[in-house]
This record gives sequence, C-alpha cells and structure tokens, in this order.
Amino acid sequence: MKTGGAIKIIVSSLASIAFAYPATRSGKRVEREFVPTVDLYANWPSYDELPLNSSYPSKAAWGVWGADDELGALNHITEDTIMAASQTIKEGKAFPLNLRLDVPNPPANFARKPLNHLFLPQDGYTDDVLVMNTQISTQFDGLRHFPYSTNNSVFTYQWYNDLIANYEDVIGPKPTETLGIQMAAEKGIVVRAVLFDFAGWQDATNQTFDAFTDRNITPDELDKIADWQNMPSDWSKPGDMLIIRTGWVRQYMTLNATERNLLPVQSWPWIGMEASERSLRWVWEKKLSVVGADNPAFEVSTMSFDVDGHTRSLHQVFIGGWGQSIVEFLYLEELAQALHERGRWNFFMTMQNLNVVSGIASPPNALAIL
Ligand SMILES: *[C@@H]1O[C@H](CO)[C@@H](O)[C@H](O)[C@H]1NC(C)=O
Ligand SMILES: *[C@@H]1O[C@H](CO)[C@@H](O)[C@H](O)[C@H]1NC(C)=O
Ligand SMILES: *[C@@H]1O[C@H](CO)[C@@H](O)[C@H](O)[C@H]1NC(C)=O
Ligand SMILES: *[C@@H]1O[C@H](CO)[C@@H](O)[C@H](O)[C@H]1NC(C)=O
Repeated sequence: MKTGGAIKIIVSSLASIAFAYPATRSGKRVEREFVPTVDLYANWPSYDELPLNSSYPSKAAWGVWGADDELGALNHITEDTIMAASQTIKEGKAFPLNLRLDVPNPPANFARKPLNHLFLPQDGYTDDVLVMNTQISTQFDGLRHFPYSTNNSVFTYQWYNDLIANYEDVIGPKPTETLGIQMAAEKGIVVRAVLFDFAGWQDATNQTFDAFTDRNITPDELDKIADWQNMPSDWSKPGDMLIIRTGWVRQYMTLNATERNLLPVQSWPWIGMEASERSLRWVWEKKLSVVGADNPAFEVSTMSFDVDGHTRSLHQVFIGGWGQSIVEFLYLEELAQALHERGRWNFFMTMQNLNVVSGIASPPNALAIL
C-alpha cells in the first residue's frame, strides 16, 4: 500500500438526497479533492489506495469523481482527449462496429428473448416497432446494469457511488433516473480506442484457442500483444477505450444454423479477459473511459474471483465500483484487418447510446474512423 497520504479526504453532506437512503447509511461519504478545470488527476488514487473508505465494497472507486458523480470513468473524456483522438483520423474510412440487432440468434442466454420486430401499416406510410432486450446484440452496459453483490441477492446490491438504495428504484413501476443510460447518451462518447488483437496474435504466432471455452486472456498476454503490435510501452492515454478482439464473434460467424441453435449451451463458458485482481490493477492504471470486446462479457466466463474475501467479477468492480461501462459483442473483423494492413493499433471512435431515461443498457451505435 502506497503511503504518504496522497488522498485528501473531504466529507460531503448529502442532506438533499438523504431521503433515498435507508437509515443505516451515514449520509456522509468520502470524496477525492480535485478541481477538474485545474488538475483532473489531483490526488488520484493508485490501485492499492482503493477504496477511499474501507466501508466501501472491494476496490470501489466511489468518491473518486465526487460523491454524487453519475458519469464514472466517462469523466476521463475531455475536450482535450477528444481533440487528440481526432488526430488519429487519417483516411476518412468508417467501420461500423455493431452486429445486426438480431445477432446472436438465438440469444446466447436462454432467459433473453430474441428481437421482436413488428411492422405497422399506417395511412400512406409505414412504422416499425422494436421490442428488444438490450443484452442480446452489441451492447453498452450502463451503470444500472451491474451492482456489487456478495450472494446475488438484491439485499446485497450496491450500485456505483452508492447512489441507488433500493432495487425497486431500478425495476419498479416508478424507476428513478439515477445512473440511467441517459447519462452516457447525453455525454456523447468520443474516444481514442486501442485494439488488442488477441485472435490475430494467436494466428500470427501459430497458436490455437477455442473461444467457446473459459480461455483467460491475461494482462501479461495483453502486454505481449502490445509488443507484437509494435505499441510503445506508454501506449495508454487517459480517456482511451480498450478493446480486445478475443475471436468469439469470428468463431460464432463460422457456426451453421444448427450450431447457432445450440449456442446458449455451447457458448458457456467463453473466452475473455482474466477475472482477477491483476486484471483490475492493469486496467485501473490505464485511466480508461470504457472497455469492450467481441465476446459476451469482456471478461472470461466463469466470471468470478476473490477480492478481500468476497466473490467478485470484473463486471461488479468496473460497473458498480468504477462507473466504467463495458461494451460487448463488438464486431471487429474488418477493422482489425484494416489496422494490421496499416500497422496501426489506435483509432478514433464514437458511441451514441439510446437516450432512454432510467435505461440499463443500449446498443452503442459504435463507429470507428481510420
Ligand atoms: C469510513 O468508513 C467507516 C467504517 O469503516 C465509517 O465509520 C466512517 O464514517 C467512514 N468515513 C466517512 C468519512 O464516511
Ligand atoms: C444474502 O445476504 C443478505 C445479507 O447478508 C441476506 O439478507 C440474504 O438472505 C442472503 N441471500 C441469500 C440468497 O443467501
Ligand atoms: C507459423 O507457421 C508457418 C507455417 O508453418 C511458418 O511459416 C511460420 O514461421 C510460423 N510462425 C511462427 C511465429 O512460428
Ligand atoms: C452443422 O455443422 C455440424 C457440425 O458441427 C454438422 O454436423 C451439421 O450437419 C451441420 N448442419 C448443417 C445444416 O449444415
């Protein structure tokens, strides 16, 4: 643990929203002291300094962007990072990164119903109606999607910054707006993205893997991929989006209809970033705005590991702890090919989520431009 007290602690009173909290909560929370316009990273905590208060869940970054913050890691994105990202546009070639909304079909999870697309003839024109689960195709997980929990019981749910007290506020008939996907939609996400092409690296080094197994992609391997892609050791910049091409979508595309029908069985487990503390540390140190992959969860399944005696997942710590969204089922095939042909590994990217108040997740409408 780093010593020297780099984190100054101030206590904010939450009288204005105290009504939302059960009586057991103190109403006072720790937050980092910084002035965004002066130094966004003043008193920035190291991984070892998380959480800011020992009463917070494992490795939470609650209070790091302020006790009431609802944007989480998207705060890494600034006008400066967007201007810098724009410098990576060299050719004007656009690469949409979204799968079709009905892919995978059937969904990779039995509990999720396929896209329901209705056509509605009108007088002289036509409408259509979509009924969709946002967790099926390419998706941006918002901060209401995944709280911390110790036993998957709603009684142990803890959302980012402890801003939601009751599950009823998320799923009830009158949901609150707190941490809804509209926050990310109204921010507008523009980043420099960095692709780690695990699948391409495996091919190039004559290694084989099965994306429908619990193959861990470790931080050490990501460092090796960075070398293979000729990336400098200081490749990361605050605000970057990290994207891993695991090869899951590529493997899915090779399945015939019969095999796709068996997918909900076959696809469990899946390849992904190792669910471990060393992964958490590696990601935290990069100051990333978002992470994403071409697989069902970014992290490997089964997605659980021990942190300080609690069973956690990268989902819990990223989303519930850091307010860092995860983008899943990205379509990266042509983009990866184009990057290799050009000896490139970073690119300009935008994501515009659906502006759904109180929403849990959204198609990201992800677009890369080289
Ligand atoms: C920090 O957590 C402890 C419990 O571990 C609690 O008693 C204390 O009030 C917290 N401090 C603040 C400033 O919230
Ligand atoms: C989970 O933990 C909470 C809090 O300790 C407890 O109230 C609840 O009964 C537990 N649920 C299950 C399913 O174990
Ligand atoms: C991979 O295999 C090919 C064909 O056998 C060979 O030419 C190439 O040198 C091998 N590459 C590596 C990195 O081993
Ligand atoms: C799909 O692939 C499987 C092999 O995994 C094969 O047995 C089956 O005949 C194929 N089905 C069709 C319709 O091509």
